[in-house]
Amino acid sequence: MTANAADKSLQAEVNALPWFHQIDFGNGVLSPGWIKKSKVERVSRTLFDPLNVTGKTVLDIGCWDGAYSVEATRRGARRVLATDHFAWSEQCWGDRRSFELTRQHLAPSIEVMDIDVPNLSTTTVGTHDIVLFLGVFYHLRHPFETLERVAAMATECLVLETHLMRLPFTTEPHMRFYPNDELHNDHTNWWSPNRACVEAMLRDVGFKRITMKHPDYRRRRGIFHAWR
Ligand SMILES: C[S@@+](CC[C@H](N)C(=O)[O-])C[C@H]1O[C@@H](n2cnc3c(N)ncnc32)[C@H](O)[C@@H]1O
Repeated sequence: MTANAADKSLQAEVNALPWFHQIDFGNGVLSPGWIKKSKVERVSRTLFDPLNVTGKTVLDIGCWDGAYSVEATRRGARRVLATDHFAWSEQCWGDRRSFELTRQHLAPSIEVMDIDVPNLSTTTVGTHDIVLFLGVFYHLRHPFETLERVAAMATECLVLETHLMRLPFTTEPHMRFYPNDELHNDHTNWWSPNRACVEAMLRDVGFKRITMKHPDYRRRRGIFHAWR
């Protein structure tokens, strides 16, 4: 097969699958994901620039198609463990085969586990220098209990990305509950904390230094780096 024919065949394979992340496979082959490549790149810079990933172990919880696991590998992580369950199950439109195609072509060294968030523990997934907990927090029925468990897996830095509740005029910690599908019409969204709430929770579960950035223009999302 010529290089051109191989790219066409890969693009057809990619197109046959559902995608959350728009992933660049090279040579013009791109997955048709919801989260555009330019956004993945911008978020990646905010996630990884403050970290020295080289030689570190990274756990990516709720990796979906694996865009940030690939980026951690590119940035020199010694070991990357990517986990998910919901997005790969019949509860969701995602498909683990998209992650597997990404891994096969872009970072075969990534290790993978199909494990649901309630089953994550230091016994099941171990401890890691860096834990990525991106876009998962507000989906949890028991966010504080889960954060405490996930924190125990991070020996150096926990990176938490979440939707943020807009609550001006207070620096007190608050978290809003969505009993139905009030947040983005999605019944899997339960909670939206404000910045002070995330910072207070992260401090409570053992982190000393916390920084926060909005990923880009979206003031209602925050990326928190929590350091031991
Ligand atoms: C918005 S996606 C974020 C994907 C990826 N981490 C990122 O930042 O692009 C939400 C992730 O949370 C995971 N998740 C875990 N438990 C969930 C639940 N109960 N409901 C919905 N999503 C859940 C999904 O499988 C999915 O990977």
